[in-house]
Amino acid sequence: MSAPAVPQKTSRAGEGDAATKDPAATAARLLRSAAKKSYDPGVDIDWDAPLVDGALWMPEHRVSLYGTALWDRMTPEQRVELGKHEACSVASVGLWFETLLMQRLLKDFYADDPTTPRAQWALTEVADECRHSQMFARLVARAGVEPYGAVPAVHQLGKLFSVLNWGPAAYASILVAEEVLDRLQREQAHDDAIQPLMRQVNRIHIVEEARHVAFARDEVTRGIAELNRAELAYQRFTCALTSFFVVRSLINPKVYAAVGIDPREGHRTALANPHHREMIRFGGEKIMAFLDEAGMLAGPGRALWKKSFLLET
Ligand SMILES: [Fe+2]
Ligand SMILES: [Fe+2]
Repeated sequence: MSAPAVPQKTSRAGEGDAATKDPAATAARLLRSAAKKSYDPGVDIDWDAPLVDGALWMPEHRVSLYGTALWDRMTPEQRVELGKHEACSVASVGLWFETLLMQRLLKDFYADDPTTPRAQWALTEVADECRHSQMFARLVARAGVEPYGAVPAVHQLGKLFSVLNWGPAAYASILVAEEVLDRLQREQAHDDAIQPLMRQVNRIHIVEEARHVAFARDEVTRGIAELNRAELAYQRFTCALTSFFVVRSLINPKVYAAVGIDPREGHRTALANPHHREMIRFGGEKIMAFLDEAGMLAGPGRALWKKSFLLET
């Protein structure tokens, strides 16, 4: 099993930079990076390696019930089991949102000259996300956990994502999904207490997502500058709404049943749990600072940002 090096924060191409004037230049740079470093999870992960008995699937302090009275009543085995189900819930929701992102990218490609670097990049990112979705699905299957995904109503709503979201709002909500996941994955990529299979999946995802984040940040910064007032108000709201559904979907309430907890009670307890709220805030810390600076957080959508726990005030 090869071990991809996780890029340091400072090496993330484009992060924190102002949008380049020429979108083709960003796309060309990212295409070069993809040609140099891409992974095939079918080859780069040893799916037949035995799982390590008792290893964690996510750090305990990131499990949604950590620190609650329900948590205190759980055995150490139940805590590991809940962490496994939550990690798989996050992976399957990541896979769901990657599918929606691929739809958006393909529509952008459809509208573009296919020979341009930007269109070529759109297909390259689709190819990355195809491999990621296969990887997350295999991870969940290997863990022996149901591919929970989003709850049925939100899963249905997802069909509207690429219809109602385009331009900066689409890429901003994609960034929320990608960066929250990325921040949590970076935290555990080199944590020896975490299941080696999970760490390898995380490391591959971190390396390839760095390119996606650079592209999406560029799209947001450039796209916002081109919106009129009415478009900006619409885009701010759809971005807040989509991000709310993404973040609220991460832990499917069905996970609690795996350790004998009523899903409604587990869900209620998690939403009221300061540790869980802090996990969301931590995951969104960097992207929220970027979106604030880009001007995406103003307007009535602010209430949704707070309800999602991504914004505190
Ligand atoms: Fe991905
Ligand atoms: Fe991505």
